[in-house]
Amino acid sequence: MHWLNYICAMKILMVCLGNICRSPLAEGILQNKIDQAGLPWKVDSAGTNGLHNGESPHRLSQKVATQHGIDISRQQSRRLVKEDFDRYDKIYAMAGDVVEEMEWIAREKFNSAKADLLLNELYPGQNRDVPDPWYGGEEGYHEVFELIDKACDALLQNQQQIVQTR
Ligand code: 4NP
Repeated sequence: MHWLNYICAMKILMVCLGNICRSPLAEGILQNKIDQAGLPWKVDSAGTNGLHNGESPHRLSQKVATQHGIDISRQQSRRLVKEDFDRYDKIYAMAGDVVEEMEWIAREKFNSAKADLLLNELYPGQNRDVPDPWYGGEEGYHEVFELIDKACDALLQNQQQIVQTR
């Protein structure tokens, strides 16, 4: 792909299990940074388990996002489909168990050049997980926000370096 297309048409998918706690935050946080940077990139999110299809993000994800000036209330949970590997340039999993589920759903379309753990942008090669806040209290959602926020800053810096060195 020509580097100019890469800048113009970069499409990123954030993936967790339920698409109600972590990946909706990742979508909102990265889209907000992209808009502020004036980049024409698009971000979406999906989940691997489909248990919450059609639902809004978890109320605590919405609350924490709102506290940072980000509105994620209009997102709707959807399950990852194998065709997402055709539609997106980069697919970020929130955790290792999510990568395994992605491989299972995408089968022959799974592309390891497109898939990575989001936190590898911040901690290269360390394969760290964004912890699942689903079973805990509000504090976990703040922790998740801070981690994803830092990872998205790193992601933007890393991608811009790739573009500059092409
Ligand atoms: P998420 O959290 O993957 O960050 O959206 C979860 C939400 C729901 C479930 C698991 C994780 N669940 O099993 O219903």
